[in-house]
Amino acid sequence: MTAYAAGRYGRDMDTINAGLEGIVAAATRLSEVDGERGELTIAGFAVGELATHATFEETAWLLWHGDVPTAAEADAFRADLAARRALPAEVLHLLRGAADARLDAMDALRMATGALSLTGADAPRLLAAMPTIVAASWRLGRGQEPIAPRQDLGHAANYLFMLTGEPPDAERVRALETYLNTVVDHGLNASTFTVRVITSTGSDLVSAIVGGLGALKGPLHGGAPGPALDMVFEIRTADRAEAVLRAKLARGERLMGFGHRVYKVRDPRADVLAAAADRLFTRGGDRALYQLARDVERVALRLLEEEKPGRRLQTNVEFYTALVLHGLGFDVPLFTPTFAISRTAGWIAHAFEQKAANRLIRPQSVYVGPRGRTWAARQTPA
Ligand code: COA
Repeated sequence: MTAYAAGRYGRDMDTINAGLEGIVAAATRLSEVDGERGELTIAGFAVGELATHATFEETAWLLWHGDVPTAAEADAFRADLAARRALPAEVLHLLRGAADARLDAMDALRMATGALSLTGADAPRLLAAMPTIVAASWRLGRGQEPIAPRQDLGHAANYLFMLTGEPPDAERVRALETYLNTVVDHGLNASTFTVRVITSTGSDLVSAIVGGLGALKGPLHGGAPGPALDMVFEIRTADRAEAVLRAKLARGERLMGFGHRVYKVRDPRADVLAAAADRLFTRGGDRALYQLARDVERVALRLLEEEKPGRRLQTNVEFYTALVLHGLGFDVPLFTPTFAISRTAGWIAHAFEQKAANRLIRPQSVYVGPRGRTWAARQTPA
């Protein structure tokens, strides 16, 4: 199958914008990605300002309602989410099946999220249940029983608790909350666009979120932090970085955690997460791995500039996501589902926005296949 690059094709020489690059398909009050300045604004806040101060519940509320919640609204929202965390028995049963079949964590999450329709799933229910699904699925995959959610903990703290059964310390909760806030929304990325397309047909919220999960799973979108960390593990020591990375580039491989469709300067989320990772690893954890990752980053940026001049390939969010989540003790298979736990709040906000001013999203294609074939000719033996 020929890949059609951006250009003019077909009988009428229509223009194809491959990957819809440069096409503005929606107006949004939720976030702005400025790829040239390297700035991300989320509902009026610079990403670093929001990520380091808000709780995840406050961020979700901000996106859903357009403003920061009052203390009373924040308390009520937090309690409402906490009350909706437990999973129906059927969903737990499904997760056991997924663990037995050794399904990918994102496949299990997608299936279980779809199954929330069994008990009705509105926006708070979807947001509240997502960490419970991920934690249960991860534990079952390791032969451990799921841990029931606690209502007295916040969204991030309870997620950490359900993974390990240990009450998390404030520092770890802050690091996770910073991560969740940082990646909650990011313009019209592939999964958010998917959610808006599904919503634009008049379909339901569960379908839209399940579609978003499907899009997020791909390695070109939300699936990169695992491979980024694997790359650091593979390098092992800083003195091997250049040889390993050069060999990858020579084989035509991409360096995971680098490059972005929109950012042509450093992804601002990388800075927020680098600071969070730095704090986490200062207190303990695998400080040597953290130092190695910083060295790998430096070498990778130098080699990308050398081998791909003018492409302006910079460190993206996934590289530091890997470090923060590793610092929190998360396994690689938990990385993308944890991203999904956050992004669900953004997806839901986009679904609301799409619904409020809906127009069916329906682009066109250019026909570049043959014409005038006859069925009889096709059946004539050669
Ligand atoms: N490593 C090596 N080369 C890279 C690269 C990377 N991470 N990212 C892009 N390039 C190169 C491409 O090979 C291409 O080179 P060419 O012009 O010689 O063919 C050029 O840069 C432009 O790449 P293109 O695929 O057009 O850019 P894009 O806008 O479609 O890519 C990504 C965006 C994110 C898909 C891409 O940078 C990538 O695959 N990165 C690695 C995966 C990743 O980290 N994903 C998470 C994103 S948040």
